[in-house]
Amino acid sequence: MYSIVDRQELTKRDMISLTIEAPVIARRIRPGQFVIIRINETGERVPLTVAYADAVNGTIKIIFQVVGKSTALLASLPVGEAIKDLAGPLGAVMEFENVGTVVGIGGGSGIAVLHHLLIGYKEAGNRVISIIGAREKALLILEDEMRELCDEVIPTTDDGSYGVHGVVTDALSGLVEHGERLDLAVAVGPLVMMRAVCDMTKLYDLPTIVSLNPIMIDGTGMCGGCRCTVGSETRFACVDGPHFDGHKVDFDELIRRNTTYSRDERMSLLSSVRRG
Ligand code: NAD
Ligand code: FES
Repeated sequence: MYSIVDRQELTKRDMISLTIEAPVIARRIRPGQFVIIRINETGERVPLTVAYADAVNGTIKIIFQVVGKSTALLASLPVGEAIKDLAGPLGAVMEFENVGTVVGIGGGSGIAVLHHLLIGYKEAGNRVISIIGAREKALLILEDEMRELCDEVIPTTDDGSYGVHGVVTDALSGLVEHGERLDLAVAVGPLVMMRAVCDMTKLYDLPTIVSLNPIMIDGTGMCGGCRCTVGSETRFACVDGPHFDGHKVDFDELIRRNTTYSRDERMSLLSSVRRG
């Protein structure tokens, strides 16, 4: 069992941060890897990316948005409760090289994954700029943590309530137009955002890494659920990724696949809310 030692509500729209005791995973996990949790004996397996690992205190921090029955149940657990299973670290180990200046681009809850990845790039000696975007100021997460980590942070909001008025790609084009020399982009967020970032960075000839979040079941390369096409090859995000060269990802296919169970997830969440 894995105890919850801290719980925070990060935004008014169901964005939850849980700190969980998991000493072995906390020691071994590398930025960008993920875990799969099973809340109880009958629970489904839920892949979750890790925003921060504290090897000294033996904890990992997961940040997630309530989107279905399992994340709603996870969000309802108080400090002191325990999670039945926690498998990890999963996913390929990323190499973090010193390339010069890295721009991290995070949208919504994807900012949590980006934070962990940028720790890796910062530790490798890079200058790190982050662009973090949300629909409105109240939905923007981890700004303080990003300011602690990065050399420059550019917040954006779709409604203009804070930072740059616009979406993350507006801030990215602004950086390039102001003559910022960038060596690598790392984008994490909604698929449509990552696709838009990649369309833009192709024009700039700027290498771009994305973190994909396809449907996952076993997380070990057995079920094929996380299949995606990268550079016309079939890859499994759980073992070959979840990080890939964004310029080679078939985003249109992934967007289609990721919506397969949206209706079922909504129905399942609704019925669990009705049952109370
Ligand atoms: P959202 O729709 O509110 O978008 C967040 C920000 O992304 C926006 O404020 C905007 O700046 C940018 N954005 C969105 N669409 C864009 C577009 N077409 N062009 C340019 N910029 C765009 O995001 P949300 O509701 O918080 O949802 C978070 C999403 O992130 C979910 O879809 C979730 O599945 C995904 N996510 C992905 C990962 C991952 O590892 N890839 C991890 C966590 C969450
Ligand atoms: Fe089953 Fe990746 S989640 S193969």
